[in-house]
Amino acid sequence: MLPLFLLLLLLFQLTHLGHSLNQEGLFLHQLTLTFDDPDGVFSNWNQKDPTPCKWTGVNCDSSPTQSVNSLDLSSANIAGPFPLILCRLKFLTFLSLYNNSINSTLPENISDCQPLEHLNLAQNLLTGPPPDALSGLPNLKHLDLSGNNFSGDIPPSFASFRRLEAISLVANLLDGEIPAFLSNISTLKQLNLSYNPFKQGPVPPELGNLTNLEILWMSGCNLVGRIPDSLAQLKRLTDLDLALNSLDGPVPSSLTELSSVVQIELYNNSLTGELPVNGWSKMTSLRLIDVSMNYLSGSIPDELCSLPLESLNLYENQLEGDLPVSLAKSPNLYELRLFGNRLTGELPADLGKNSPLLWVDVSSNKFHGQIPSGLCDNGTLEELLMIYNSFSGEIPASLGECTSLTRVRFGYNNFSGQVPAGLWGLPHVYLLELIDNSFSGGIAKTIAGASNLSALVISNNQFSGQIPEEIGWLESLAEFTGSNNRFTGSLPASIVNLGQLWKLDLHENGFSGKIPNGIHSWKKLNELNLADNDLSGNIPEEIGTLSVLNYLDLSGNQFSGKIPLGLQNLRLNELNLSSNHLSGDIPPFYAKEIYKSSFSGNPGLCGDMAGLCDRKTGYKSMGYVWLLRSIFMLAGIVFIVGVIWFYLKYRNFKKAKRVIDKSKWTLMSFHKLGFSEFEILDCLDEDNVIGTGSSGKVYKAVLSSGEVVAVKKLWGGGAKMAVESGDIEKGGNIIQNDGFEAEVETLGKIRHKNIVKLWCCCTTKDCKLLVYEYMPNGSLGDLLHGNKSGMLSWPIRYKIAVDAAEGLSYLHHDCVPPIVHRDVKSNNILLDGDFGARVADFGVAKAVDAIGKGGKSMSVIAGSCGYIAPEYAYTLRVNEKSDIYSFGVVILELVTGRLPVDPEFGEKDLVKWVCTTLDQKGIDDVLDSKLDSCFKEEICKVLNIGLLCTSPLPINRPSMRRVVKLLQEIGAESQSKNGKDGKLTPYYYEDGSDQGSVA
Ligand SMILES: *[C@@H]1O[C@H](CO)[C@@H](O)[C@H](O)[C@H]1NC(C)=O
Repeated sequence: MLPLFLLLLLLFQLTHLGHSLNQEGLFLHQLTLTFDDPDGVFSNWNQKDPTPCKWTGVNCDSSPTQSVNSLDLSSANIAGPFPLILCRLKFLTFLSLYNNSINSTLPENISDCQPLEHLNLAQNLLTGPPPDALSGLPNLKHLDLSGNNFSGDIPPSFASFRRLEAISLVANLLDGEIPAFLSNISTLKQLNLSYNPFKQGPVPPELGNLTNLEILWMSGCNLVGRIPDSLAQLKRLTDLDLALNSLDGPVPSSLTELSSVVQIELYNNSLTGELPVNGWSKMTSLRLIDVSMNYLSGSIPDELCSLPLESLNLYENQLEGDLPVSLAKSPNLYELRLFGNRLTGELPADLGKNSPLLWVDVSSNKFHGQIPSGLCDNGTLEELLMIYNSFSGEIPASLGECTSLTRVRFGYNNFSGQVPAGLWGLPHVYLLELIDNSFSGGIAKTIAGASNLSALVISNNQFSGQIPEEIGWLESLAEFTGSNNRFTGSLPASIVNLGQLWKLDLHENGFSGKIPNGIHSWKKLNELNLADNDLSGNIPEEIGTLSVLNYLDLSGNQFSGKIPLGLQNLRLNELNLSSNHLSGDIPPFYAKEIYKSSFSGNPGLCGDMAGLCDRKTGYKSMGYVWLLRSIFMLAGIVFIVGVIWFYLKYRNFKKAKRVIDKSKWTLMSFHKLGFSEFEILDCLDEDNVIGTGSSGKVYKAVLSSGEVVAVKKLWGGGAKMAVESGDIEKGGNIIQNDGFEAEVETLGKIRHKNIVKLWCCCTTKDCKLLVYEYMPNGSLGDLLHGNKSGMLSWPIRYKIAVDAAEGLSYLHHDCVPPIVHRDVKSNNILLDGDFGARVADFGVAKAVDAIGKGGKSMSVIAGSCGYIAPEYAYTLRVNEKSDIYSFGVVILELVTGRLPVDPEFGEKDLVKWVCTTLDQKGIDDVLDSKLDSCFKEEICKVLNIGLLCTSPLPINRPSMRRVVKLLQEIGAESQSKNGKDGKLTPYYYEDGSDQGSVA
């Protein structure tokens, strides 16, 4: 009895002990071994659990066996190849690894994952062609491979999917044809192929056979030819996007047969002909239509406008005729953009009465007549843009009550009469533009309420009276352009309170009195034009404190007294004080011939400038004595400098002779060369040194062909280093040798517009040369932090950011294997003659896969102070995310104009400084004061990207590809903002007083 009991007890114990992880759990647990998991998402995948059902991302079915049916590890920041072990889970129907770093190729035996219904691998780093075997998954309904590096063809086997309902291949590198066989997947409801570099070709007409299709996205797919009529068979289609291709021909009238279509996007093609006139009334579901930026002609069909449209974008075509009156009946219309056509007639009188209009842009057409009075009847109108038409009459009083308005542009029309008092003071308007009309009356005191007003542009009208004191209350006002009107009285004293002002242009009016006291608070003033008024008194000495003032015109007034000496502190591009009553001396800095016209017409004024005024000749001859003395002194200095220069040059010449022995060089070239290595050696003169980096000196070499190249000399032997380059730190030595191989291997292979070209390299036992294309504008770092930073206007800086981002994105996403730069910094971003930026110096770059598999860590610290991602300091692990961090620092440099590390920041680096300053003082203390504040909006958006890239957690940093996209979106936005108003200028409201022609 006892033995039996013991046996039972033993069995009982055994079963309890055996209560360890089940088989599926064991399979799953293997994932933790194959994936890199910096964020620890696997930390609760505990092997002591009986089942994996409670693990992060895991879901089990309710059967007694509790099989795993779903695994969702999206955005978990895990890295590694696709885990085939998952295919051993016999009930796994749902798998998402969306937004991780799944790399290498997808294995063919993915077909072992038989039960899969839903597979989402979007936003990863997968390469190679999409595997044939995917179609071997009999149950697959939903396949998302977008945002990877899949290349080559869509495999023919894809024709044999049996249950597939949705496939997305958006934003890959697929460069084959768009295959007609996709039309065999008859179950398909969504076909998303946008943004792939497919071979140029037509929309396959066979796609019309996909009769279940609801969504068809093929924007940016290199499509040419006509839109096939067969698409009319897609009776269930709701969303058709063929934008950004080169399609031509008319919009097929058969398209109007599609009764379910909600959205049509065909913008930015080369579509010609007229919009179909009939048939639109069948498209009872059509809400959103965008066929802008094509070559469509003819008129806007009445039938189209009778649909219950929400958004109608027809801008930048060649449409003519009237806007159909039926449009005014649309109960849901909120967006109407018709700018850049040849439309005529009046706007429908009832426009807006029935529609919740939000954005209306009819600029750059030939409309005439009055503004419909009901545009804001629904109280939603935000943007009303009507520039460059022939509208006339008064602004309806109803718009003065339209508090939702933010952007109002009535410029370049024939409007007249007084502006409704309410319009001056709308609380959300940031741009009020009335330029070039015949408005009269004054600026109403109600302007006090315009608390958001940033630009008030009212030049070239007949406004009169005094400018109300209330204008000084507008804290956001950055531009006030009111030139060429009939304003009188003195400038309001409060105007000096406008601390955001960057442009004040009131020339050609009848202002009198003095410039008010306290203008030193115009800290941001860039342009001050008060020419041709009746102003008098002194020019205030304070003017010398306006450190960013660039343009100063006070000509044609009654100013008297001395010219303030402080003007010498300013860096003026334009200075005009002519035709006043100024007297005394001209400040020495300006007493030069080139400034002569700046001071003419001031009879009491004198300087050392011949001809400006009639001083006694005695004074002049004194000047000559002084001049002669200076000449002698100068000649002496030149002589001494010359002797020193000659000595140094001779010494270097001897030194150069000593180290270069031509016979022992070997040449490795990557491009067709128009020069020989010997010619380059002759140019390696110390006089030609243009830079010294951590791994060597850089020379500029002008070759006999006239071609200019940059030569980087790296030293192998320690002995030679001591002789020739004492400025290279000893520690650099290790990197140099490895750096050389790495640099040559990676750079030689790469061809990209934003990556510096390596022409060739020459080697001997102890000296190595890399010959690059020469970049005349040097490095971004030197330019930005040197005294030439003024050359880098915001549009240039923005372009540099985009260029460099594209270069890095190429390294990360388009090179196989991907390349991590490891030393991204502003000194490694070089600028060509047009300030196009290229990424350079792979001194420490290595192909990611070349690094040892286990450690993945480097033996030497790579990267430069201030640019190193925080995680690197303790993990010594380098990946793309660390480059992205460094690139974020470069963005912050561009935006703030500050160095990545600066004693001024104390313990902090630039990243921390920006964050704390933003918190404590606000945005204005962060942005580079040299940047034109009219770009502030755009700059802030770029700053945000910089902050995103420098997130402390790598997972929060966007991929380089995403960074490029984010940056481009900012550009596109600001361009369309202006472009849609009819004028393509990078300024967001600057139209100036001169009427530009409109394309
Ligand atoms: C994939 O990522 C893992 C983990 O980061 C890495 O070890 C491996 O080298 C990568 N493979 C490729 C082909 O890039």
